[in-house]
Amino acid sequence: MKKPTTPFPTSGYFGPGYFCNRQEEMEVLVRNIKGGHSTTLVALRRMGKTALIHHLFNHLKSDYLGIYVDILPTESMHDLLNSLATSVANLHVEESKPGAKVWKFLKSLRPVVSYDALSGSPNLSFNLTPEEGLLTIEGIFGFLEKQSKPVILAIDEFQQILNYPEKKADAWLRSRIQSLKNVLFIFSGSQQHLMNELFTDPSRPFYRSTQFLKLDRIRRQQYLDFIAAKFEESAKKINTKNIESILDWTNGWTYYVQLLCNRVFLSSDEVVPPGLWKEEAMRLLKEQEYVFYAYRDVLTVPQWNLLKAMAREGYVESPTSNELITRYQLGNPSTVLRSLKSLLKKEIIYRELDAEGKPYYGVYDVLFSRWIGN
Ligand SMILES: Nc1ncnc2c1ncn2[C@@H]1O[C@H](COP(=O)(O)OP(=O)(O)OP(=O)(O)O)[C@@H](O)[C@H]1O
Ligand SMILES: [Mg+2]
Repeated sequence: MKKPTTPFPTSGYFGPGYFCNRQEEMEVLVRNIKGGHSTTLVALRRMGKTALIHHLFNHLKSDYLGIYVDILPTESMHDLLNSLATSVANLHVEESKPGAKVWKFLKSLRPVVSYDALSGSPNLSFNLTPEEGLLTIEGIFGFLEKQSKPVILAIDEFQQILNYPEKKADAWLRSRIQSLKNVLFIFSGSQQHLMNELFTDPSRPFYRSTQFLKLDRIRRQQYLDFIAAKFEESAKKINTKNIESILDWTNGWTYYVQLLCNRVFLSSDEVVPPGLWKEEAMRLLKEQEYVFYAYRDVLTVPQWNLLKAMAREGYVESPTSNELITRYQLGNPSTVLRSLKSLLKKEIIYRELDAEGKPYYGVYDVLFSRWIGN
């Protein structure tokens, strides 16, 4: 596996040495797999879904074939076929020549093969009618079903299937996968309301077909120990208080924690000065400023004001409450509600449920929230 430039990578998966904990989540995933259940994995953006899937694959690699397909860029079943075939083509397996077998099978489907200019990895696409495309997806499932090792097929950003023009894409998929015995699925997604719609609405084909796993923040103490250990391994001294400040400022949100630690690591020598994290944090905001101004241009004044109020509050349970409206002069509840809907749709704010199932709202981008809330 390649090595990242710092112990705090901000994209990709680099092996267990760069991965903080997630032991409980791993146990659930492994238990599901061993019990023959597929899993629906949901989390807010940038919390660590994709990395967790790769961590799982790495952990199980001697006994299972892990195939990862990200369908966020796809817009139809035909795109799904291309992505699926490309992922299968990029399977690296250590057994005796299954690579050749995989290729032989894929070639029989007559794909158009191109190679990624940067990585050199193959990209497959097909010139097929929609019906032929569906048959080819079935053909790939059939091929996976015949592998000597069981297969875990992770479909990331699964909610994207709801945007396909094919109305019953999920029904079709469900009917084709439920007879598979050698292939288990992980359906992962960040848009929780859409994932809920797919898996918890009784009228939907995937209703209760999987076990749910919600990915939250990495526990504070675990992240703290991990960060301390990574600095120590590189013979850098960092004060625990500074790590705590980093975790506070980034709200413990995985990607942002990684990002700030990455910067602090890069710009420090043997001893990390106490004020450095703040300097780096401010630099991050400065770098993003033009993006943040662009947000303002696309939002209406009430939306912008609501966003500011939410960033200042951190979390908001009821955005239409009199208290909030008065404190931030947000106008009337119906305006606030309209702004709220629009900000949710644009994924600028998120809606989550707390431990008791009560909804609350927060600003999605931690940096933006820090910037606008100041
Ligand atoms: N347990 C972990 N330990 C260390 N770094 C992690 C961990 N989980 C995720 N990361 C890092 O955090 C960043 C965000 O993680 P990832 O891309 O997996 O999130 P995601 O939920 O899939 O996000 P998105 O919704 O944008 O696809 C990545 O750089 C990843 O390497
Ligand atoms: Mg992801």
